[in-house]
Amino acid sequence: MAVLTVPAENRRLTAIAEMEAYLAQIEIGYACWGVRSLPAEATPEEILATYAPEIDQWKAAGGYVTADVVDVKPDTPGLDAMLAKFSREHWHAEDEVRFVVEGRGLFHIHPETGPVVAVEVGPGDLLVVPQGTRHWFDLCGDRRIRAIRLFQDVSGWTPHYTESGAEKGFQPLCLSEVAS
Ligand SMILES: [Fe+2]
Repeated sequence: MAVLTVPAENRRLTAIAEMEAYLAQIEIGYACWGVRSLPAEATPEEILATYAPEIDQWKAAGGYVTADVVDVKPDTPGLDAMLAKFSREHWHAEDEVRFVVEGRGLFHIHPETGPVVAVEVGPGDLLVVPQGTRHWFDLCGDRRIRAIRLFQDVSGWTPHYTESGAEKGFQPLCLSEVAS
């Protein structure tokens, strides 16, 4: 389940409809596909098959042509270098579409107008960051995420850095890990 915060406004949303509405007005797609039971150590093929109805629906709606599963663990080789690529503000020439199967992650979205929004996503959450949208991404403390990715064109998914330093003003803090 996701948590949306707007640090500049000290605002926090957790209701699905409220998050969906807030994100829609800054053109970010959000949906809760929910958590389905999967075999332990499910293969990418099993994961894609389990969520095939949603994948097919979003592919058709968004013009996505391929889907894969990314699997990041604390012992993934080169993890720090990989994370460093995405924790600075950047944008892509195609949409960044992620559906979380396992683990968590923290997207910061920097809209054209309005304050930066942090969206912590977990199992069952789909986030669509449209092409050209400034954003950055961090893992949570357990450094674990398994997610379905949808692509319009894999070659477009390259980070273009803004070099704005905007990310320096925000802590990569996952609220699910902070005692409230
Ligand atoms: Fe990105």
